[in-house]
Amino acid sequence: MNTKAIVFDAYGTLFDVNSAAEKCKSKIGNKWEAFANYWRTTQLEYTWLRSLMKKHKNFWEITEDSLDKSMKVFNIDKGMKNELLKLYKVLSPYPEVKKVLENLKDKKLKLAILSNGTPSLLNELVSSNNLKNLFDDLFSIEEVKVFKPDSRVYEIPVKKYNINANEITFLSANTWDVSGGGNFGYNSIWVNRNNSHFDILDYQPKNEVDNLTQLLDIV
Ligand code: LAC
Repeated sequence: MNTKAIVFDAYGTLFDVNSAAEKCKSKIGNKWEAFANYWRTTQLEYTWLRSLMKKHKNFWEITEDSLDKSMKVFNIDKGMKNELLKLYKVLSPYPEVKKVLENLKDKKLKLAILSNGTPSLLNELVSSNNLKNLFDDLFSIEEVKVFKPDSRVYEIPVKKYNINANEITFLSANTWDVSGGGNFGYNSIWVNRNNSHFDILDYQPKNEVDNLTQLLDIV
């Protein structure tokens, strides 16, 4: 493989988006997981809809808007809002993340995040989890003010590193993001954490992993 940079999606790939609601499960009750999934789906829909409508709001504002709607749908006490938002800023990484990043760092590859998150959100996520020194760059779509999977997003690391798209190995657990990066020209790898099915969107990843550890056998 002619990989020069390894670029990771953040939410769902490195960090567990359900961990905020999970930490409140004693207060939310059994519906916590359905609520967390609904919040995530609504959040993503708002990113796509706002990009199509050309009505950009940043990812944090969208996270809050989608939380408001989800709390109404699931009839969750309004008093939980601030706690959930606070926890969303410090989402937990998946267990293997730190070790894998340390290993890749030893291979002298560029390591970066490319995410919908704002620069300050990404900074807080990696700092609160002691991962900051492992990344060369935290690329945010705020540079182009349009959300994934717009190709202007995937162009960001190509321009910054002055390399070809196919020299980037991109990892995402979000199938549509794998397709977005793959259609742009990345070597996209799907992190299939939940044994699910891939999309039919004109891109089939050459590699699929259950978690990031298997990446070490590929690059
Ligand atoms: C991100 C979303 C797509 O981090 O998970 O960009």
